[in-house]
Amino acid sequence: MLTLSFDKFPVLETERLILRAISQDDVVAMFHQRSRKELMEYISIPLLQSKKEAEDLVKNYQFLFEQKISISWAITIKGNPEMIGTVGYPRISKENYRGEIGYSLDPAYWGKGYMNEAVADVLKYGFDNLKFHRIEAVINPKNKASVNLALKHGFVKEAYFKDYTFFEGAFWDTEVYSLLASDYR
Ligand SMILES: CC(C)(COP(=O)(O)OP(=O)(O)OC[C@H]1O[C@@H](n2cnc3c(N)ncnc32)[C@H](O)[C@@H]1OP(=O)(O)O)[C@@H](O)C(=O)NCCC(=O)NCCS
Repeated sequence: MLTLSFDKFPVLETERLILRAISQDDVVAMFHQRSRKELMEYISIPLLQSKKEAEDLVKNYQFLFEQKISISWAITIKGNPEMIGTVGYPRISKENYRGEIGYSLDPAYWGKGYMNEAVADVLKYGFDNLKFHRIEAVINPKNKASVNLALKHGFVKEAYFKDYTFFEGAFWDTEVYSLLASDYR
């Protein structure tokens, strides 16, 4: 079984970004991002309604890391500590050496290649340090930005589930993409 052993939070540095732990300082940015329809359009999670909900979400990210259950990073641009998005493995199956990647970015920063840069390092960390055998991405097929991002990093489509998730009065289709360690290297 996979063991997640962290002495401290692993800060990652890319060409333009610092990926660091999500902290209480990120509550306002978290609320600003996760309360926006534009950002959450294809994600079957309710919009945040209050700063208190954002605070609870931040606490939950911290709890999941401290308990070695999962890991998510705050994305910041070098020289500015403000969180512009998140990326990480919100679901990890230690028994199966498997992680599910998740990512979201403030719409003000879309289309500048930031998530491309963040995902490249998070995948490398997932395979090299966390020792995942398989990383998957669970995506709403209408979410072209996310599908293209996954394909760009070598993910392959494995499944299309029709009417898989019931959310806010409608059934949503879901696609599952995967990247195996053997195909990544
Ligand atoms: C998905 C998301 C993280 C992409 O972030 P981004 O920083 O804008 O992406 P990048 O600029 O790094 O682009 C990476 C690749 O994604 C694809 N892409 C990004 N935006 C796209 C768009 N609007 N339409 C189609 N493809 C797009 C492209 O293939 C791009 O590669 P290219 O520049 O070589 O063409 C961002 O759109 C987002 O936060 N969406 C809302 C949250 C979300 O849906 N998360 C995923 C849940 S599964």
